[in-house]
Amino acid sequence: MTTDNDVHDVAALRDAMVHELREQGAIQSEPVAAAFAAVPRHLFTPGESLEVAYGVDNAPIVKRDDNGLTLSSVSAPHLQAVMLEAAEIKPGMRVCEVGSGGYNAALMAELVGDSGRVTTVDIDPDIVERAGAFLHEAGYDHVQVMLADAERGVPEAAPFDRIIVTAGSWDIPPAWIEQLGGDGRIVVPLRMKGTTRWIAFDRESAGGLVSRDYGLCVFVPFQGAGSHTERTVAIEDGVVLRWDDEDLKVDRDALRRALHLPRLERWSGAVFDMPDEQALFLLTNEADMALLHADQEAIDHDLVARPALRGVPVLINGDSFAYRAARPNEDMSSGYESGVYAHGPSAGTLAARYAELLRQWADKYHRRGAASIRYLPKAATPPAPSAGVLPKRHGTVVVTWP
Ligand SMILES: C[S@@+](CC[C@H](N)C(=O)[O-])C[C@H]1O[C@@H](n2cnc3c(N)ncnc32)[C@H](O)[C@@H]1O
Repeated sequence: MTTDNDVHDVAALRDAMVHELREQGAIQSEPVAAAFAAVPRHLFTPGESLEVAYGVDNAPIVKRDDNGLTLSSVSAPHLQAVMLEAAEIKPGMRVCEVGSGGYNAALMAELVGDSGRVTTVDIDPDIVERAGAFLHEAGYDHVQVMLADAERGVPEAAPFDRIIVTAGSWDIPPAWIEQLGGDGRIVVPLRMKGTTRWIAFDRESAGGLVSRDYGLCVFVPFQGAGSHTERTVAIEDGVVLRWDDEDLKVDRDALRRALHLPRLERWSGAVFDMPDEQALFLLTNEADMALLHADQEAIDHDLVARPALRGVPVLINGDSFAYRAARPNEDMSSGYESGVYAHGPSAGTLAARYAELLRQWADKYHRRGAASIRYLPKAATPPAPSAGVLPKRHGTVVVTWP
């Protein structure tokens, strides 16, 4: 039973959420603010407290697989706001959401208004049922909820002005581009070199897509025909390398031996800042880059340094590897200087290569959104291979640093 107090709490929490999202810069426009103020998020997160439901960074988990991997969650308001702003959804538009939960589709329904149309599609019958029931309860019966593998898009409801994908995708299925109208935009969390960026892509005249904005994000994996398994190799207990590319050669035994050799430390003299932007630069400017992850125990034993706790770009060369470090330095604009830790017989050479990249980033690209990302469908002529050219199943992602 809902009491007057609950109603008051919900209104206050919703206002506070909108306020905080504005303060953070996640909400930038009045229509997006109005949508967040209108939709009762707690109706889409039953079983969670009101505080959890309205926390800007909370993404309540809805379903896990047998190994504990999250298959579905209600995305965090912060990320939803950023992606909706990037989508620039206008009244009257036809919008497709890939991956349902109900809440985000309701926000979209507010944005398109009575003259627009929202279709949300999920591969999981349980999620489709939940989303449909919640949308009904919240008064958004006009949102179309469909059960399908979105690898094929939703031809029944196409074309779309906007496609917003809410599962981490390794590629862009041809159907999404085909089902996008002339001035259409796709906002998609795309996996590149083991990390995911949401990217707002506009259509290019040649049939491809070009980015207008992007940012770091974490999403549950895209399932079904378009799923893709990244590669992981444990070089020691709790120390794992992750990468996407088919052709990165990793000599696990040699790297394990290197890990137990003394750690070389080199400082770049360049600023450490915006680690996600810097990471994208590193990963797309050296072919032999992967991600190094270490668990707390490996860090406590000083096997690997702290930056690896959240994953850090690692340059690998046969029997040696080098990864990013940071230390306080008051001469730097951020208060931190970037550097390198390296192990193995070629540690010195690798560290020098890595430090040079850190200096290049600091000199030329020390800002948000410095990369340009294009998606070229299979039919287009692929560019010459380089670290920023990422072959996918249906096309090629090209990351350049203009
Ligand atoms: C993060 S949840 C979606 C959250 C939702 N957009 C919201 O309102 O917050 C991601 C969803 O993507 C779905 N999904 C994964 N792969 C899919 C596929 N190939 N086709 C359709 N849905 C898929 C999952 O079942 C999961 O429910």
